[in-house]
Amino acid sequence: MEKITTGKIRNLKSEIRKISMLTAYDYSIARILDETAVDIILVGDSLGNVILGHENTRSVTIEEMSHHTRAVARGAPRALVVTDMPFGSMRDAVLSANRLVESGAAAVKVEGAEIEGIRAIRGAGMEVMGHLGCLPQSASVYKVVRSDKLIDEAKQLEAAGVFAIVLELVDSEVAKQITAAITIPTIGIGSGPHCDGQVLVTYDMLGLYPDAPKHAKKYVDLAVEIKRAVGSFIKEL
Ligand code: KIV
Repeated sequence: MEKITTGKIRNLKSEIRKISMLTAYDYSIARILDETAVDIILVGDSLGNVILGHENTRSVTIEEMSHHTRAVARGAPRALVVTDMPFGSMRDAVLSANRLVESGAAAVKVEGAEIEGIRAIRGAGMEVMGHLGCLPQSASVYKVVRSDKLIDEAKQLEAAGVFAIVLELVDSEVAKQITAAITIPTIGIGSGPHCDGQVLVTYDMLGLYPDAPKHAKKYVDLAVEIKRAVGSFIKEL
């Protein structure tokens, strides 16, 4: 079993194979994912909508992220566990990141070009993944971002020491230009095929989250399977 490190993810930039990243919020799903070839397990703050039933990700707390990170880390001895810095946590960036790393995250993910905070976390010896494009913690509408400003922001993030950058709903051509302009990998979601890797919310790809966004491909409809199984259980009573 080869443990995935941030260094390994960086090196995949120069390889032909793509980086895979999926979310998990609990031990059982993390364990299933860890037994596949997936590279990165993200404890996303999509926890807010997908698991806790909130309208958005903004009410997720550092305590909740820490609690779910512990569960995921117990189930994922192989994959790289990355945890989202929740809304507001960059006010005390080093302290918050430290809590998540102590809970078992190998790295934290930061939304936006929060260069100063990222430098502080890196200065304290912790690993950081960036996240640019349509940012769930601040976007009022969920739409594709076309701004060339993103290329400059990606370069700034690279200089600040992040090991990879998630591009969420970035125009495919802009995502291609960013991917060519930096030496660290880009991991896309709804950003076209040119990124160095792809990420999906696991509950979206498995058909478990009823409000999944349109750009998320559903690979299986487990809601249908669960209802079928429950139907069989009730029939057998
Ligand atoms: O919170 C999350 O699940 C994420 C992914 C959509 C990248 O940030």
